[in-house]
Amino acid sequence: KIVKVLGRQILDSRGTPTVEVELWTEFGGHGIAKVPSGASTGANEALELRDGGKAYDGKGVTKAVANVNDKIAPLVIGMEVRDQLSIDQAMIDLDGTEFKKNLGANAMLGVSLAAAKAAADEMEMPLYAYLGGPGAHQLPVPMLNVINGGEHADSAVDFQEFMIMPVGAPTFSEAVRWSSETFHMLKSLLKAKGDITAVGDEGGFAPNFKWAYKEETAAAFKAKMPVEVALDLLEEAVQKAGYKLGKEGFMFAMDAAASELYFDDKKYHFKKLEKILGTEFSMTSEELNTFYEKLVNNYPIVSIEDAFAETDWDGFVKFNQEIGKNVQNVGDDLYTTNPKFIREGIHLDATNSVLIKLNQIGTLSETIEAIQMTQKNNWTAVVSHRSGETEDTTIADLSVAFNAGQIKTGSMSRSDRIAKYNRLLEIEDELGSNAVYLGAKTFYNLQW
Ligand code: PGA
Ligand code: ZN
Repeated sequence: KIVKVLGRQILDSRGTPTVEVELWTEFGGHGIAKVPSGASTGANEALELRDGGKAYDGKGVTKAVANVNDKIAPLVIGMEVRDQLSIDQAMIDLDGTEFKKNLGANAMLGVSLAAAKAAADEMEMPLYAYLGGPGAHQLPVPMLNVINGGEHADSAVDFQEFMIMPVGAPTFSEAVRWSSETFHMLKSLLKAKGDITAVGDEGGFAPNFKWAYKEETAAAFKAKMPVEVALDLLEEAVQKAGYKLGKEGFMFAMDAAASELYFDDKKYHFKKLEKILGTEFSMTSEELNTFYEKLVNNYPIVSIEDAFAETDWDGFVKFNQEIGKNVQNVGDDLYTTNPKFIREGIHLDATNSVLIKLNQIGTLSETIEAIQMTQKNNWTAVVSHRSGETEDTTIADLSVAFNAGQIKTGSMSRSDRIAKYNRLLEIEDELGSNAVYLGAKTFYNLQW
């Protein structure tokens, strides 16, 4: 039984306040959870309750912390800690709104995760084994975001994330080594070109690509988009690090985060290029689709996330029909980890994969429902961090618990990202010969 719950305000990787919750059980179980926070958030995400006012530029979470201590604690104290569904349902009922507007999803998720961790601790089990049972043994293929753009960095690229996936590695620890070596090779290449080697929010580089353009004109950008310069660089880094491109080595993934580029004129605006040029530089949904097809034909791209805006369902459906057999088509802002919207996506056949972020929906139970709904439909589930993170490693355990097969948790730098890789290395070690790394086979629903 839960005997004590304590919320407090701490800071995330951007130095912005977030919620931490500690929870104790009657037989000595203890759990501590820290809540992440997004920057390019989906419109339908559950509410992240912030204070407003002067302190921390309005971003304090003392109201959410007070909700933990004054409203949720009295509700869950006395409840059986292993009864996750009832704990989460009690919070959902107390909140009483669809998007968790009263208690705040940050308050609710903190308690939800702290309860799961305390339960695992009470049973003296690692979190992945407590959540997933004896079948939990698959280490995920990482999606490493080594070039950051969009809302996450002041780089030259409008797509938010350029990721490398070590699909050809034999084990998770080898995947980490390959990725680290490639990350450091990428840094050397950028340095040699005189570009910036500082990193963005998720630990990837944020280059300006000035060396790639003799003149910064619309014609020059059309001839080679900064997106293509980024992919060329990744190819060079992989090969110079001594690895292959394709199934035996690295494949690439992108998160366009296209909701951030879509405006009332129903066009996708490459805002960074527009700023440089001082004129409009945009694509219609059809033109963007054609652009993706070109990229997929020219580069070893296996996955594209939020290829279109969250309101452009037609864009997703068309893309899925045309290249969804060959490319993982991931919905992030589109679904916001909400079973209601995932069901809609399944009905429309809009994508073939779902990004899973705990704080988009606000409880562990609903997140598990989202993962299971996705997997039952023979789609893939990619467990993900947020751009604002902490040293909390729950998502590493979550990916193994449900054999998700893929995790997106940033680049090979910044402790907020590395903490998840380190946790997965521990889990791999603990599983020993039972650990499985599927590599390219994790894309079982694609035809190559
Ligand atoms: P966010 O970005 O955490 O800023 O939303 C991550 C993503 O879009 O996948
Ligand atoms: Zn995304």
